[in-house]
Amino acid sequence: MNHDQLIQSALNEVGTSNTIDSLEGTRVKFFGKNGLFTKELKSLSSMPLEKKKKLGIKLNKFKNQFFLLVEKKKNQIESKEIDSKLVKDYLDTSLPARENQSFEAKIHPINQTINEIVSILGSMGLKYREGPDIEDDFHNFTALNIPEDHPARQMHDTFYVKGNKKDSLVLRTHTSPVQIRSLKEMRAPIAIFAPGRTYRCDSDITHTPMFHQVEGLVVDENINFANLKWFLEKFCKIFFEKENLKLRFRPSYFPFTEPSAEVDINYEMQSEKITLGEGSRWMEILGCGMVHPAVFKMSGVEKSVTGFAFGMGIERLAMLKYGMPDLRDFFDGDLRWLENFGFSFFEETDLSWR
Ligand code: DAH
Repeated sequence: MNHDQLIQSALNEVGTSNTIDSLEGTRVKFFGKNGLFTKELKSLSSMPLEKKKKLGIKLNKFKNQFFLLVEKKKNQIESKEIDSKLVKDYLDTSLPARENQSFEAKIHPINQTINEIVSILGSMGLKYREGPDIEDDFHNFTALNIPEDHPARQMHDTFYVKGNKKDSLVLRTHTSPVQIRSLKEMRAPIAIFAPGRTYRCDSDITHTPMFHQVEGLVVDENINFANLKWFLEKFCKIFFEKENLKLRFRPSYFPFTEPSAEVDINYEMQSEKITLGEGSRWMEILGCGMVHPAVFKMSGVEKSVTGFAFGMGIERLAMLKYGMPDLRDFFDGDLRWLENFGFSFFEETDLSWR
């Protein structure tokens, strides 16, 4: 074979290689240690000068062309392989995970309730916020006007994060630390709410170690207790879908609000069935109050503002609204319970109150 034929056959072989292996075989055949062109290049040294020069240029030019071509071909083969792998590995994630699946997936009542709260408080002008589940002592307690040795710390049955004594980390015992984080970040005026998980070392019929709260905070010039009353009345009536629901504000104590109140709603009990908004019995549903000046101070808010805050237990709201009798069922992971109390993904949300 003369040089031109050899070049042609090398080009052909690269062109027809369709796997990485055969392409590599082609490279070795022509430019490997004992490759056909390697031999030719070696033989240059014994040639007369003129011929060596002419052939040397030609062979080296081809060598460059060959390797560029091999590289290009390699990329082509690889992207083809990826394409065919993608086609082969295609997974239809909309197919049921189990054969004989016996029921449609349901939204957990806690998520449903949070979604409803998000929708209502969101349309009432509050911004959605989140805070970390693992909090530091400052945000969970100190900045909320609960100094060390304050009896309220014991009341909270705190889970401490192990090995973190000094600026101790805790699992947040309430969502109130999000008030501090939001004030520090967004300053006043501010209107936010923050639903999420909370933790206390407590477990019986009415307590689970993990539960959910939603926190609310509205701060501006001239915010007063009447604003708080109006706001919570509006929220409760919409949430429980009872236009006649009555609220009772009972004086209470929280270190981070002054004055503080607990709010009850009215209900009646007939043959073990609770009806909200009827009758003259009262049931507590939330804590609230006017933000304590110490909270503003510790969050670095210097403007002269006032504000109200509130905190509610989400499980309790869900149980009351949907007539679920036992708190512990929420976290048992029993699919039969979810089948019964869960919500369909395709149910339309009632937004007629807007
Ligand atoms: N953080 C309180 C708790 O977990 C609830 C609470 C009460 C939150 C009054 C508030 C508030 O924002 O103003 O018991």
